[in-house]
Amino acid sequence: MPGLPIRQFGDPVLKERTREVEQIDGAVASLAASMIETMYEAPGSGLAANQIGVLRRIFVYDIGDGPRTVINPRIVESDGEWTYEEGCLSIPGLSWDIVRPDAVHLVGLDLDGNELSLEASELEGRVFQHELDHLDGILLVERLSPEQRKEALRILRGRTLHLPDGDPDGLSSMLSL
Ligand code: NI
Repeated sequence: MPGLPIRQFGDPVLKERTREVEQIDGAVASLAASMIETMYEAPGSGLAANQIGVLRRIFVYDIGDGPRTVINPRIVESDGEWTYEEGCLSIPGLSWDIVRPDAVHLVGLDLDGNELSLEASELEGRVFQHELDHLDGILLVERLSPEQRKEALRILRGRTLHLPDGDPDGLSSMLSL
């Protein structure tokens, strides 16, 4: 099964809050399989359903222990603070040092409908928080400091207009007409 296209910064689906999964059936299992394939093809460590255009609360991840799927995830507790350079498959080629809680307690369901209760820190805790943000319609750029965000938006505006990163206002492309 080939991977699916990943929605990119500027796509409104990335700013939408996803809805709870009410029934875990074959369609959900096949969605999760496509998401895992897409994540590996990218490649990335995590992927949220709205990154492939599906507004449901599901994310997949693999931090080296094989692929996992979490349905209807919620973070019920978080603790500490950890700085980590974070990127996003919907904002390729860019990454920033982001401070977030270090440890989180995540609850949700697996593909068999069993309740999950996962305590995670460092990389795994970071993946959970990043994917939860996606499912709430929050992109990485909203987690940046004002200075980081200014620079990021300058680069991303150029991309949305299909201008090269080094020419965010498009002047040199216009002048070379
Ligand atoms: Ni992301």
